[in-house]
Amino acid sequence: MKLFLDTADMSQIREAIRWGIVDGVTTNPALVSRTGRPAEELYAEICATVPGPVSLECVSMDADGIVAEARRLAAISGNAVIKVPAMREGLVAVKRLAEEGIKTNVTLICSTMQAFLAAKVGATYVSPFVGRLDLMGQEGMETIRQIKTIYDNYRFTTEIIVASARHPKHVLESALAGAHICTIPIDVMELLYQHPMTDVGIQQFLAAWAKVPQERKPAPVAPATGA
Ligand code: E4P
Repeated sequence: MKLFLDTADMSQIREAIRWGIVDGVTTNPALVSRTGRPAEELYAEICATVPGPVSLECVSMDADGIVAEARRLAAISGNAVIKVPAMREGLVAVKRLAEEGIKTNVTLICSTMQAFLAAKVGATYVSPFVGRLDLMGQEGMETIRQIKTIYDNYRFTTEIIVASARHPKHVLESALAGAHICTIPIDVMELLYQHPMTDVGIQQFLAAWAKVPQERKPAPVAPATGA
């Protein structure tokens, strides 16, 4: 399963890329707004930094507007993927964008049927929002499992990005469900490395190592006298 970083913060992006586990980045209008930077300048910098797909979200609400905005965003970089909300006008636009070869990520997916429709119109990716579904008392991961089953049944090539993930268990369950990608904020990415027993083990080994005698330095070799 690929891991995407869910952020528009350049310092987080650079740091997580250094860790070697980031396959792409997803942004959204709220994340961009938090940076205080003009969107398209920021998008260009993110796309130039990330060695993988970068999702950039449209804010137009009608199909013609979404298509025009998507073309502009796609022109920023070859790795730009255009995020379109899972609404009827959005899916009209996704079909047209697929015909033009522009990659799309249908976002704010909150039901299995929305994901089914997105695949039918040729979405490259869908982003079901598991954390927000859990908050509503709906089982977010069950939606992922249903989408995976339907995509497999009909051999849809649309990839599932588990989005709105809140904790490592969402990441674990995404992988068990066979999701293609999970996108997570950097704090969840950090938690994936951690286990208290690992920390205890490291401390035990370091304490033991401190008691190991130091190596003896080899005696210096006497210089040749030439006699
Ligand atoms: C994914 O592409 C979205 O940006 C993201 O996961 C939204 O999640 P939220 O519920 O934390 O806003």
